[in-house]
Order: sequence, then structure tokens, then C-alpha cells
Amino acid sequence: MITWIRGGDLIDPVNKSVQQIDLIIENGKISKMLPPGVFQGEGPGIRRVEASGKMVIPGLVDMHVHLREPGHEYKETIASGARAAAAGGYTAVACMPNTVPPNDCRAVTEFILEQAERAGLVRVYPIAAISKGQAGETLTDFGELKAAGAVGLSDDGFPVVSSELMRRALEYAAFYGLRVISHCEDRSLSGDGAMHEGVVSTRIGLAGIPDASEDIMVYREIALARLTGRPVHIAHVSAAASVDVIRRAKEDGILVTAETAPHYFTLDHERVIGYDTLAKVNPPLRTPEDVEAIKAGLREGVIDVIATDHAPHSSLEKELEFDRAAFGMIGLQTALPLTLQLVRDGVIDLADAIGKLSWAGAKILGIPGGRLMEGGSADLAVIDPDYKYPFEADRILSKSKNSPFIGQVLQGIAELTMVGGKVVWEKK
Ligand code: DOR
Ligand code: ZN
Repeated sequence: MITWIRGGDLIDPVNKSVQQIDLIIENGKISKMLPPGVFQGEGPGIRRVEASGKMVIPGLVDMHVHLREPGHEYKETIASGARAAAAGGYTAVACMPNTVPPNDCRAVTEFILEQAERAGLVRVYPIAAISKGQAGETLTDFGELKAAGAVGLSDDGFPVVSSELMRRALEYAAFYGLRVISHCEDRSLSGDGAMHEGVVSTRIGLAGIPDASEDIMVYREIALARLTGRPVHIAHVSAAASVDVIRRAKEDGILVTAETAPHYFTLDHERVIGYDTLAKVNPPLRTPEDVEAIKAGLREGVIDVIATDHAPHSSLEKELEFDRAAFGMIGLQTALPLTLQLVRDGVIDLADAIGKLSWAGAKILGIPGGRLMEGGSADLAVIDPDYKYPFEADRILSKSKNSPFIGQVLQGIAELTMVGGKVVWEKK
């Protein structure tokens, strides 16, 4: 069986090119990439996918999702998260260790990989905990976790409070070729805060989380990266001050990379007025000036990656008083249209946008993906960039529906997603 993807605009985020190319897929791999008109074929052995007017992109790679299995399967399972990912144009996701129990040992890492295999949808790469129980006291066994299949290390959900432990983590992780991903939050500043500390939190009477809670820790991680000469990756950047610190560190040649999430360049703290807990996320939605700084950071390459921080929570955790609700929002099915909005707004170009959603994260984790090549695995998506639709809850394939974008009109959707030549999502 041959699949022929015909007439699409193929996006190569590495060469930064957009070109009309036909793809021929055989045995799970891209066997040929040809100018349109060269390949002709018909018959029962050929499946033709008409892609003219569409974009053909390397499958998106999300370096930051929460899949809640083991432990909170009522919010999301590896299979349900993988289905949502496929529908969002993703072919690979890296899942954070804050499950119950946390992924801090071989058994949990192997369990995640087995469940992902069973689901048979997108590729799932486990990120293991930095510290045992994510308690910030003792390092996990990085060698064992790497051997079991972990692709990175993070205590995401919690900061690593001890600078000494973080220093050792950077040193040992580099030895094993694992990237450390830091959740930057000074809990002595964020405290019981429920939203960004500023004029809006004062007006609506919610305890605030100042931006310094984030950038103080970003600065610490950069200082430790300089001290050790080892790389560090900053998760979910939300604040202008963090972008400034990272920009200067990069100029100084320090090995730091950074990600943000679509909500940080799309929404600001005003979205919290009305106490909608769907807008409660950690780090919090910040000011319009922060949103502009995040966009500038993306444009200038200070922020390397767009990840989702897909954080499913059920109505049990969300339909509560604002200060008691859980932090987090889902994002796998909205990241692509929200990022394409940045392209339409002229913030970044198309190849750069797709690169930040795919190749950039894959490169940081050292996993495959993010580029379509002859002989390479057919992990790709066909995108209709013009399709406009109200994003309603019935589109959500995640078990949890906690998206602040429900009801909003989005533009751009994955029509077809393929992993290793197998169709894992097809829009009806
Ligand atoms: O909003 C968030 N949700 N931020 C985090 O750091 C953790 C995440 C979660 O696991 O729900
Ligand atoms: Zn997270």
C-alpha cells in the first residue's frame, strides 16, 4: 500500500522553506519527495490524499504535556491524551512526571511506555522526575530512568527549591544526555496566589502571584547553567522580566533554552475578571505588556519552543471558588490554530511557527521528529489553514474539557495526522 499526499505546501522548519511537494509513503516511511506532476499512479494499492491548498507539516512535537496516568485517569489517560494530541496535529508528546505516583523510577517510566504502545496513536516520551517523589530532597536515579526510556528530567508542577540539588541535577543530567526542564517558581513569593499580582488581582480581590516569583528562579537556573557549563530549559515562560533575563543569558552564551504556551501569547489577566476558573493556570496569565514581550521573545528567538502545558482537570477541580480551583488548562487541540494566529498577525513567519511547535522541542529533548525527509518516518499532518470553526466542547477528545477557548472561533485545523505511516486522526 502506497499513500500519495498530493499538491500540498510542504513546510520545512529547518530550511525555513514552504514548497509544493508530493509525498510518497511506503512501509511507514517517506520513500519519495517529488515536485508536483512527477508521480502518477492509480489503483487499489494507492491511497491518494488531496492536499492542494493545504499545508503538509512535520508532525508537531509537544515537549510539555500532563497525561495524568497513572493515578488520575478520570482526568486523562495516556490513550485519551494521545487522541487529543493526534487531533491537534501532534505526532509526539513528552509527558511530565507529576502523576500519582510520580514518574521517579523505572517501573513508572516503563508503564507509561507500555500504555502508549497499547494506545498505538502518537509517540509518547516520558519525562522523569528530578527528585524522588518530586519532593526536592534526593535526586532520582538518572541512569536507570534514561535506560528505561526517559528523555528528560523535570519536577514540573513544583520548583526545585534547593539550588544545590538543582546544581547536581544539571551536572548528572548532562552526563546522561538528559535535559533538565525547570518549573520556575519561588513559592515564598507565589504563596497562596491564584492569579497574576497586579491591578486586576487588587480590583477583584484575589491573592496575587508576582512576576518576580518566576524571573527570580529563571535567573537562578541561568546562574547554575553558567556555574556548571550545563544546559537548562525553562518551562512555560509567562513574564516579560523572564524574557529579558533569558535574552541576556543567550547573548552571554549561556546554554539556556525556553518555551512558552499559547495561552501566554493569547490571553492576559483580564480574562480572569468574572472568576472563570478555566483561566486559572500556573504561571498565571499576566499583563498585556507581558503578552507583547512573549511575542517579541518568540520573534527574536529568545523563546525557542511553543509547548502546550496541556493540563487536564475535571469539573471536580474546576467548578469551585476561584482560589480553591486547580491550576491548568488543556491545550493540545488549540495550540496550532492559536499559533497560526501569530503568523496571520505577522509576529512570526509560518516556517518559524511550525518549527517552534515541532523541531525545536524535539532537538532539545534529542528525540526524532520535526522534519520530513526521504527515508524518514512518515510522522506528519495535513493542515487546513483556512478552516474556521467555533471551538465547542464536543470537539474535545481529551477526557477533561477545561479550555478557556471553548466558544471562540478558531482558524486552522489538522485534517489528517499520520504516525509511522499510520493514520491516527482524520477530520470528518
Ligand atoms: O497550570 C499548571 N498545571 N501548571 C503546572 O505547573 C502544573 C499543571 C498541572 O499539572 O495541572
Ligand atoms: Zn506543566
